[in-house]
Amino acid sequence: MKCILMNKNKEVLIVEYNETSKFFDYIYEVKDIDYAPYILKSFYIENDINDNLFRTNLSEWFKGRGIPSWRDKLDILLHRLNITAPYELLDKALGLSLSDQYWLKPYDSNILYDDINFFDNDFDYAEFMEASLSTNGSQITKEASLKTPNNTTDGMLKKAWIIDNGTRYLLKGGYKNETLQPFNEVLASEICKRLGFNHVEYTIDTYKDIVVSKCPCFITKDTELITCYQIKNEMKRHDNLEDYEEYIKKLEDYNIKNAREKLENMYILDYIIMNEDRHLNNFGIIRDVNTLEWIDVAPIFDNGQSLNLEYYDEEEIHISGNGRLFYEVKSFDEIIKVVKNIKRIEISKLDGIVEWFDDLLHQYQYLTGYSDSRINKLCILLNSQINKLKELILN
Ligand SMILES: Nc1ncnc2c1ncn2[C@@H]1O[C@H](COP(=O)(O)OP(=O)(O)O)[C@@H](O)[C@H]1O
Ligand SMILES: [Mg+2]
Repeated sequence: MKCILMNKNKEVLIVEYNETSKFFDYIYEVKDIDYAPYILKSFYIENDINDNLFRTNLSEWFKGRGIPSWRDKLDILLHRLNITAPYELLDKALGLSLSDQYWLKPYDSNILYDDINFFDNDFDYAEFMEASLSTNGSQITKEASLKTPNNTTDGMLKKAWIIDNGTRYLLKGGYKNETLQPFNEVLASEICKRLGFNHVEYTIDTYKDIVVSKCPCFITKDTELITCYQIKNEMKRHDNLEDYEEYIKKLEDYNIKNAREKLENMYILDYIIMNEDRHLNNFGIIRDVNTLEWIDVAPIFDNGQSLNLEYYDEEEIHISGNGRLFYEVKSFDEIIKVVKNIKRIEISKLDGIVEWFDDLLHQYQYLTGYSDSRINKLCILLNSQINKLKELILN
């Protein structure tokens, strides 16, 4: 099918899109490559627009918009949606997402972005939410349930976009039978709020007795999220601190204010909650899709894989998790060293937060079934990280 790859109202590429293979078989014309997804920049060859590598990466980028093969309980989700693979969903809603403004416009259509984007236009989310989050959901019945931004969500956790009072929220569950992720998200928000870090605000919500985290969409119709992964893709990989430094340099070159401090804030949070999942798609920048200006570092999001989640044991406290600093997996004590002036942190703002977290976990004990001993161990861990940070600040 002949289509135009659009970025909001801007024509980017005129392409032949193969609806069966989901591959971009041919590029008829390049309209404005600057407005293409950032990751494609480094593959584009001006005098060979049909270069195989470029089209492969374009197709990979498009497929990468879909639900990944490693999504928790994917088989159940597919069954409930009555499809066999996530890529079947890719073009059901023109490829639209709530994290950017790209879409595929059929060549001969006169569809307007204003009429179809999910930021302004409501979508039917109830059946997808049930299919994704519920433990005993049934198969969907409405074709409209497949015309939602839920076709294009990344990440491992079960999740669903919903609309509540006009606002778009992302609901995220735990992984398999674990339910700590939502609480860790809320804890991270509380820490960020107290320390003044720009963050996505997560709250606890319940859906049919299932605990989920709920956060508003941090993208607007004028912006897109470009993850660090996309930005680093065109940069040399060092597997040492240079990866971090070069990324900061790049952000500064694009006039992002206080880029270093903002990145440091993310690693300070990761230290406090022992977040093991700061891979390159879990942070990035916000770009203006109209002017292509890099506006800011994206607010801190996806902090759920924390507090030694993988190593929980009723008997003892294992402190075995590692953090991530770009391509390296390192101890939190190592990673925190990137912070140039840790004394800028007003650690007293965290006074009482352990008790606050203890209360939160007890409040939902009737749903999570956490033992008092587990809650106690989580609080001990959190307390010990905060105390270690205090020591770093004092010394
Ligand atoms: N509040 C949000 N607004 C817009 N996009 C979001 C928001 N939260 C997450 N995303 C996008 O969805 C992806 C998956 O969300 P994430 O929280 O990372 O889930 P997971 O824990 O499964 O990795 C993110 O990488 C990001 O692209
Ligand atoms: Mg993620």
